[in-house]
Amino acid sequence: MPYLSPALNVMIAAARKAGRALIRDFGELENLQISKKGPADFVTTADSRTERVLVEELSRTRPGYGFLVEEGGAIEGKDKTHRFIIDPIDGTSNFMHGIPQFAISIALEREGHLVSALVFNPVTDEMYVAEKGHGAYLNDRRLRVAGRKSLSDILVASGAPFLGKDGREEFLTELDAVIGATAGMRRFGSASLDLAWMASGRFDAFWERNLKPWDIAAGILLVREAGGVVTDLDGRDGMMDCGNILAANDALHKQLLDLLRGKS
Ligand code: 2AM
Ligand code: CA
Repeated sequence: MPYLSPALNVMIAAARKAGRALIRDFGELENLQISKKGPADFVTTADSRTERVLVEELSRTRPGYGFLVEEGGAIEGKDKTHRFIIDPIDGTSNFMHGIPQFAISIALEREGHLVSALVFNPVTDEMYVAEKGHGAYLNDRRLRVAGRKSLSDILVASGAPFLGKDGREEFLTELDAVIGATAGMRRFGSASLDLAWMASGRFDAFWERNLKPWDIAAGILLVREAGGVVTDLDGRDGMMDCGNILAANDALHKQLLDLLRGKS
């Protein structure tokens, strides 16, 4: 059984509550695909409501904690030592298209360090949690990152820039290097789940640029507690500031860092 700190229990309860409504919305979306306007407004409403429910639930049980949330931005709390970092729907495009690869992501920071993490896919009912120093779990199963050591055996996940976002050329250069050296790549559209899947050994590695803290905060702790290494693309601990990230097991991390920097 996972060790669940009181804070993690509160995060799980909030995510389950918000997740129940998201499952209903996801069912409803099937009917909206055919409308000309598409389900964009509906999704925006679901996104805002999920964020509101999470902030309400967490504030009720942890009054004073601060927040960093995708829609609402930074919300200062009286307690300067604690902050929840939340993405209400990570994988919004998937959600909008009826693809069941999206998640609620919640991380808790204490004095600037990630201490508790949750990534929850309400459709598949996969609840990934981690507590600093106590391991990472998928539901009741302890997680370990995959043990493959050779680039030629591995599956690597990433995210591609969309809609004219910066970094297309850089991404294509990195993609070219990765597909030339590995068993394949996947692009599933939810960074928090990519990291959770890496923690559970489904993917061997994950890299992406220009992400936001709420996309990766919970996933970083999940991967580390599953025994993986997470850095930015300079090999440093700057992921939450610069938004660039590489996660892999110890044996692969340096090889991939070199590959992505064009050094191998
Ligand atoms: P989001 O669903 O919360 O927006 C995938 O590359 C990552 O980029 C996801 O974690 C996703 O988080 C984020 N992202 C932000 N805007 C996006 C968009 N318009 N299309 C696809 N992904 C987006
Ligand atoms: Ca996100």
